[in-house]
Amino acid sequence: MATFEPVLTKGVGQLDLTDVAAYRKNGGFVALEKALKDMTPESIIAEVTASNLRGRGGAGFPTGKKWGFLPKDGRPRYLVCNCDEAEPGTFKDHMLLEQTPLQLIEGLILSAYAINAAHIVVYIRGEFLEGYRIFMRALSAAREAGYVGDNLLGSGYSADILVHRGAGAYICGEETAMLESIEGKRGEPRLKPPFPANAGLFGMPTVVNNVETLCCIPHILTRGAAWFASIGPPKSPGPKIISVSGQVQKPGNYEIPMGLPAGELLQDYAGGLLPGRTLKAIQPGGGSSAAIFAEDLHTGIDYDSLAAKQTMLGSGGFVVMDDTTCMVRASMTLVRFFEYESCGQCTPCREGGQWVHRILRRLEAGEGSDADLLVLNTINDTLTGTNLCPLGDSIMPFLLSVLRRFPQEFAEHVTLAGCPFDPARRMVAA
Ligand SMILES: Cc1cc2nc3c(=O)[nH]c(=O)nc-3n(C[C@H](O)[C@H](O)[C@H](O)COP(=O)(O)O)c2cc1C
Ligand code: SF4
Repeated sequence: MATFEPVLTKGVGQLDLTDVAAYRKNGGFVALEKALKDMTPESIIAEVTASNLRGRGGAGFPTGKKWGFLPKDGRPRYLVCNCDEAEPGTFKDHMLLEQTPLQLIEGLILSAYAINAAHIVVYIRGEFLEGYRIFMRALSAAREAGYVGDNLLGSGYSADILVHRGAGAYICGEETAMLESIEGKRGEPRLKPPFPANAGLFGMPTVVNNVETLCCIPHILTRGAAWFASIGPPKSPGPKIISVSGQVQKPGNYEIPMGLPAGELLQDYAGGLLPGRTLKAIQPGGGSSAAIFAEDLHTGIDYDSLAAKQTMLGSGGFVVMDDTTCMVRASMTLVRFFEYESCGQCTPCREGGQWVHRILRRLEAGEGSDADLLVLNTINDTLTGTNLCPLGDSIMPFLLSVLRRFPQEFAEHVTLAGCPFDPARRMVAA
């Protein structure tokens, strides 16, 4: 394994990075002190643009470009931090919130300074109670030390951070549903355009960024855009935290250089498969992503390499499934999640998710038919690309990828009138 020095997780597990002195000892607040003293907001945006940082929340949109979209019309601006993290298989922001809250605070203040926002809202998933408490303590400490509040480090720039806790709805991770939720309304995605850059929180120009995206900012400003851009593929660079879960020896969060081959992450970081098992499928980008397979292990973990494989890096949730996993059951579990989390505004998402879930449940229970298989194979054109937000379009990618790869496994659920992976059936067969 080539050596890669962790950046975002440096000191995690060794130092108490919720403590201002320890965080400073680890290199913290150097970027903030430098930026407030020597850098203009425009020069920060230029540096972040040159780094080619792409948003770590899922869509991979270039961060500097997003910041540059804000209209220069004198209206107040908001920065919103997306810490909702409910994508199946993804748990990296949770770790950053709990382990390095001051790194996030530094990234928040730097980003707010760059876009000239005085108000920052951090939206924390309701279930992250411990993370919320840790963050609040770190926020008080940062405020006391002069890194948050009025006239920061004597620069004349003031910014404050407000924390809003979610109530456990996956859809509130979608940026416009999140804005609705912060405004006190039901969390439902808005029709775009207008985009948040023009009409975001309370109708004002707003940037929404992911926790990990914001945590990259201090490092880009300390070490320079060229350093960041040199890690991994030029169009998709930087350090990236991948949450590895499923049937591996060592599940967990691993910080890797972008572009690392999937096989190296699986073997060298996550310790490989369980003894005696073979690889069946991997979801490389959380629950919304299509699967890759054993022949794809050379594929780089980055936005463009995974897009070339008809899947995506998404939020970086790397879910490994071995030969003991039933693909009908795995698809059913995921589709059930999306069906449950649909906000209900769009008919294809609201009704389609239920149909597909019911069909998969029938197949798994041994009550499916050839007609069910036909519907699964043909429903995609109606269900995908016809919704207001990407949640509806997340129902089919994994299912379709495994349906195409393992058609016989789906058909067997019909011919056997049950699940071939059912332990009771296996005992009978033995
Ligand atoms: C259903 C759904 C859930 C999402 N959940 C999250 C989330 O939990 N965290 C996140 O950062 N982005 C999430 N996103 C993406 C956000 O809408 C948005 O693109 C992101 O926060 C932008 O930040 P970035 O540019 O730094 O990636 C979600 C999108 C959708 C459609
Ligand atoms: S696609 Fe689904 S979750 Fe998204 S707005 Fe439509 S109904 Fe709501």
